[in-house]
Amino acid sequence: MIIIEGPAGNRIGEDIARILKVSLIRIEPRFFPDGESRIKIPDLPEHSDVVIVQSTYFPQDKHMMELFFIADALKERGVESITAVVPYLAYARQNRKFEEEDIVSIGTALKLVSEAGVSTLITVEPHKSEALSFFKGKTIIVDASEAFYREISKQVKKPFILSPDNGGIERAKKIASMLGCKYGFIEKERDLKTGMIKAGGSVREDLAGKDIVIVDDIISSGGTIENASRLAASKGARSIIAVAVHLVMVGDAYERMANAGVSEVYGTNTIPYEKAKLIDLSGYIAGTIRNARK
Ligand code: R5P
Repeated sequence: MIIIEGPAGNRIGEDIARILKVSLIRIEPRFFPDGESRIKIPDLPEHSDVVIVQSTYFPQDKHMMELFFIADALKERGVESITAVVPYLAYARQNRKFEEEDIVSIGTALKLVSEAGVSTLITVEPHKSEALSFFKGKTIIVDASEAFYREISKQVKKPFILSPDNGGIERAKKIASMLGCKYGFIEKERDLKTGMIKAGGSVREDLAGKDIVIVDDIISSGGTIENASRLAASKGARSIIAVAVHLVMVGDAYERMANAGVSEVYGTNTIPYEKAKLIDLSGYIAGTIRNARK
């Protein structure tokens, strides 16, 4: 097996290669003068099983194109198999039409990944697992719950896990059961046309005096966590931290959450982000690759 870490591998490929004791090729970001990506791939041994590691965080389209370029070039070279590890899968939230004229972008993206010769796709907790149905080969989802459990148990003595919406209940329940603590969720309303969350909501459990850990899959604008934090604070929470798998962090997301009472933000290294503590998922991804080959 050879690991090829793409320009947006965020060092995860390097870690996986070290853990699995296999060789690594790193593709450094290179560009033509007009900004187009310039991908160079050295010669590979014949019959190589290749694992590409390329996340697709901002700029999503460039990183997605780089993934297509690398996979398609490997297919042209006739490698034995191509697995793509895409820690953060862009467009996974565009798995349905929100408005009549919308397109289902993840469908197109995954069709292209399949066409480029990728037979197995490994990703970390996409927003909706149904999004992966557009991929023609095998798909494997890496779960970040255990990594979160380990981190939360180091940071908070008696946590209460709060999902900011009912879509995240299973994640909250799973982490709470590992921690042996209680969990709950915010009942909220979303505008079906715009997909935007309506502010406010309600929570059934008593949050007074509790150390609240808000757990979500993605932080994008920060609005969802901001809302959850304000609600928890208004119910008398003692402390509030936020934990999310993918820190997309658009604009002033961090400041919005901090102003709403969030004291720390934790995420994973599927996306680089400096202001938060990032939990390394390389070991979990390496284990997933190993198991997939048994
Ligand atoms: C929503 O269903 C997701 O689980 C996240 O809560 C949402 O995508 C977060 O977005 P934002 O940070 O913009 O509120």
